[in-house]
Amino acid sequence: MRTTYAGLVSEALMGQTVTLMGWAHRRRDHGGVIFIDLRDREGLVQIVCDPDRPEMFKVAEGVRNEFCLKIVGKVRPRPAGTENANLTSGKVEVLCHELVVLNPSVTPPFQLDDDNLSETTRLTHRVLDLRRPYMQKNLMLRYRVAMEARKFLDENGFVDIETPMLTKSTPEGARDYLVPSRVHDGQFFALPQSPQLFKQLLMVAGFDRYYQITKCFRDEDLRADRQPEFTQIDIETSFLTEEEIRSMFEGMIRHVFRKALDVELGNYPVMSYADAMRLYGSDKPDLRVKLEFTELTDVMADVDFKVFSTPATMKGGRVVALRIPGGAEMSRGEIDGYTEFVKIYGAKGLAWIKVNDVSKGRDGLQSPIVKNLHDAALNAVLERTGAQNGDLLFFGADKAKVVNDAIGALRVKIGHSDFAKKTGIFEDRWAPLWVVDFPMFEFDEDEQRWNAVHHPFTAPKDGHEDYMDTDPGRCIAKAYDMVLNGWELGGGSVRIHRADIQSKVFSALKISPEDAQLKFGFLLDALQYGAPPHGGLAFGLDRLVTLMTKADSIRDVIAFPKTQRAQCLLTHAPSPVDEKQLRELHIRLRNTQAAEKA
Ligand code: AMO
Ligand code: AMP
Repeated sequence: MRTTYAGLVSEALMGQTVTLMGWAHRRRDHGGVIFIDLRDREGLVQIVCDPDRPEMFKVAEGVRNEFCLKIVGKVRPRPAGTENANLTSGKVEVLCHELVVLNPSVTPPFQLDDDNLSETTRLTHRVLDLRRPYMQKNLMLRYRVAMEARKFLDENGFVDIETPMLTKSTPEGARDYLVPSRVHDGQFFALPQSPQLFKQLLMVAGFDRYYQITKCFRDEDLRADRQPEFTQIDIETSFLTEEEIRSMFEGMIRHVFRKALDVELGNYPVMSYADAMRLYGSDKPDLRVKLEFTELTDVMADVDFKVFSTPATMKGGRVVALRIPGGAEMSRGEIDGYTEFVKIYGAKGLAWIKVNDVSKGRDGLQSPIVKNLHDAALNAVLERTGAQNGDLLFFGADKAKVVNDAIGALRVKIGHSDFAKKTGIFEDRWAPLWVVDFPMFEFDEDEQRWNAVHHPFTAPKDGHEDYMDTDPGRCIAKAYDMVLNGWELGGGSVRIHRADIQSKVFSALKISPEDAQLKFGFLLDALQYGAPPHGGLAFGLDRLVTLMTKADSIRDVIAFPKTQRAQCLLTHAPSPVDEKQLRELHIRLRNTQAAEKA
């Protein structure tokens, strides 16, 4: 029997005989003495194999990387000068008495301590990759986070209830993953994009407080913080107000950070969606970055510079400045680089002013655009931005969405740069906040119709119900997002619990009563039986753990993730299936090349 984990051997066990099981992380032959770093999930310990035990030494000579070993030995201090402060076991080593190879290993395709492995290599050989201390640490923390969330929820009376994976399309707005039915020719299940409708039904059913740590499936364009299947800590409660829900779950995340990281997050600031867009151009602002937009739309209406005056006078246009303290030291090359960067977000250019000497007015400024701005406009720019000598001002002028996306992204790009870290523009801290008062609907210009910003079961603010008919753009929702360091960590809302209000939302969204009945009839029916006021939210567990571990990618906190192209390199899924299987499912492939593979 193992007496302790290799990574936990410390001075406390000095002089004792221990039995360890683990893997040979590294083996070094120092001419006469063999050192093996034995690794298990808790860490490493140095094993010393002396030739004066010839039987054991012979086995040690045959050990190679990743052999699975049993070691019995005595804990002793490391010789002075050979301690390793980075390891729990760094002050000690184990003098080996007995060494058993439990299982040899073929030569691994890479060194486990190589930090420059490509992600393709890592995901192809995921089992070995998972053995690496970095991945072990990440997944252990993931477990801890999930466990602490469960403890908190349990203590607060939440009940874990499972909901189906084979279900009907749910309304989170992504594409569904479909599962064909063998039994019902031509019919399909959808994998849930979230348990949204089921958790609402559980509230109607009287369970009062529900949670589930569960998989969600969304076939959407993948980004750095997205996976096609990901895990939510999904929560719903009856009879709590928006503020009560927020306060409780801010408490949950504080609890998780305290227990898993020993970090105190403190109280969260609460910011309206309108303020977030106004100041940061984003509904998930990274508050570690101390840069804000300055609104200039009103002062640019009559300047003799079409780049600014056109957006300033058109409906839905916006002109802003972003002041970068100390930014005047940036080179033309850097500014050109940022100009190319904002073009990714649809911006047509990036006007700028270097503030050399503010006391000299116009003459103290260096810029391709000041000649186009009359005195009043230029003074307003300097005053509103609070420009100081040595600052750089960037400008965005376009449709509000383009300005927000482009200058918002620029703010984060500059805010995360070495320059920002050097000048204190970037503050290294945990920066959580709530973003609240989201609009109910946003207008889709392409489709010329209103869409739900959260989902169509979100309740409007009290008193906003009638805007749904008269002015949908004015209608604010009881919806909230939790944001941490610029990532949307979770989001939710108070739900509609009355069938008549629900019908109004559907009508604003141009979902006909027949269509609503077809898609969500089971929910609408349930709402008629004394549904309680209810609401909830869901946290992205993968994102939470990515932030907490400071991992490079969301894939580094998921044991078996998909690539950016939604594939599993380990199992080679998705993959073709037999013609027989397809026939049973009543499916014929349209693409003949794919059909030939089947
Ligand atoms: P929402 O769609 O905002 O809300 O999702 C909740 C949280 O889940 C995480 N998340 C993702 N994580 C990784 N990869 C993805 N593709 C992905 N998509 C979402 C985010 C997000 O904040 N039913 C509602 C919640 C509710 O109203 O109660 C919902 O699913 O962290
Ligand atoms: P132009 O008059 O087109 O040469 O542009 C003058 C300056 O305005 C250049 O620095 C451009 O990068 C910048 N610029 C052009 N279009 C925009 C825009 N939509 N928003 C902000 N700056 C712009």
